Amino acid sequence: MIQRQKGCNDIYGREAKIWKYVDSIVDALMEKYNYNYIRTPIIEATELFHRGVGETTDIVTKESYDFQDKGGRDITLRPEGTAGVVRSYIENKMYGDATQPVKVYYNGTMYRYERPQSGRDRELTQFGMEILGSDDPLSDAEIISLAVNIYKMLGLKEIKVNINTLGDNESRQAYREALINYFKPHIKDFCEDCQERLAKNPLRILDCKVDAENEILKKAPKTLEYLNEESRDRFEKVQEYLDIMQINYEIDPNIVRGLDYYNHTVFEIEAKVEGFGSNNVLGGGGRYNGLVSELGGPDTPCVGFACGIGRLVKALELEEVKMPITDTIDLFLMYVNEDEKSYAAYLSQELRLAGFIVDTEYLGRGLKGQFKQADRLNAKFTCVLNSEDLNNNEVKIKNNKTKEEELISLDYLIYYLDEHLQDEDECCDDDCCCGSHGEDHECCGHHHEEDHKCCGNHKEGNHKCHCKGEDEDEEV
Ligand code: HAM
Repeated sequence: MIQRQKGCNDIYGREAKIWKYVDSIVDALMEKYNYNYIRTPIIEATELFHRGVGETTDIVTKESYDFQDKGGRDITLRPEGTAGVVRSYIENKMYGDATQPVKVYYNGTMYRYERPQSGRDRELTQFGMEILGSDDPLSDAEIISLAVNIYKMLGLKEIKVNINTLGDNESRQAYREALINYFKPHIKDFCEDCQERLAKNPLRILDCKVDAENEILKKAPKTLEYLNEESRDRFEKVQEYLDIMQINYEIDPNIVRGLDYYNHTVFEIEAKVEGFGSNNVLGGGGRYNGLVSELGGPDTPCVGFACGIGRLVKALELEEVKMPITDTIDLFLMYVNEDEKSYAAYLSQELRLAGFIVDTEYLGRGLKGQFKQADRLNAKFTCVLNSEDLNNNEVKIKNNKTKEEELISLDYLIYYLDEHLQDEDECCDDDCCCGSHGEDHECCGHHHEEDHKCCGNHKEGNHKCHCKGEDEDEEV
């Protein structure tokens, strides 16, 4: 049997539905914050990541999926999304667009040759967003708030935002020297990689996985002690905006991030739910003002964030967040003979195009087996297509829960389903998960807030949403 590659996952069944739900919330929130979707290739020139992510990072030295293609080009499977977005920004001269800054988001697979363990895969999926062309601390705060609001909108409660700053070039240089002076007398006690890092890139010693528990490493100088005044003011401004946006955060001076392109703000968002394990950083990001010019473009300040969707889905499951994942169908069509089967083919097509979730029999089961299949699929209604009824332009429709059956005109079937499915759709009780509501329900976007009380009447025209909206009694 051929097995999947180590560190790669098959996502299917209920889990796949959760992934699609996450994608839908990401798309919805990105639209609200006015980020445009961008797709860049999974393969890029190897040099992009060496120059972009950094020669001495683990991602480049140890985890890179490099190969030569048939034309002898050095190619790498992207380990992250930012470098590709920046390449695209430069190559497509987006810096010349009238609309600046450029705000984009992406969602796709990345590849890192890591030792597979819980929360650490070789093929991972990230969504991420970048603001290119703004140095305003408000854009740092916006990126952090957008990340937090995606988690909140999904219903996650147990998260923690940690922020730090690396400062500008001058501050980083002062910090680098402080690290070299600090580590030099002890460097023999560190791994071989760290010994090399000392001269090349001492910051990378701080995120070494081998020496992570070394007490000397834990007591290393912190970036905040080496900030110049400008960098300190800038960091305070970011915090001011976060306070205005009511985003809770803590300053964690240990955050330096494992990629070389950062300066100024860096941040990570952790899952705090019990049982998550050690790889609990759901996502991270920060400012990278030097990357565009490093890759050959004009001086362009940027900031961004990326989240690992696999870890996010794990957090949603551990927190037992209610999600509008449907595993029901509206109607199961049954038949016995070939004429009835042809009618099932015709009717399923019509009803699906009218917007209903419809399934039918494909394995030649008898009626008893078909009823069982309808139950397995959680069909809300069933129809046994009987030739005699069909000749009279009629059909028997049965509510699969109450078992009530009615003989109705075929012309009336769509209206019947429309009307009766509305009654069937139940809104979840206390924490309302939008998405399972009828056309007339507009989600207010605050369903997961603590104070939202769902009245259970989302289908009714007179539904009043009691969540914290602009207007307390806003009707939705
Ligand atoms: P990163 O911290 O390398 O940042 O990755 C972001 C997130 O991707 C992590 O927090 C984690 O959730 C997920 N992730 C990373 N590696 C793995 C793995 N091996 N298995 C599972 N999940 C993983 C970046 O990638 C930057 N590009 C973020 C950014 C965007 N900075 C500025 N803009």
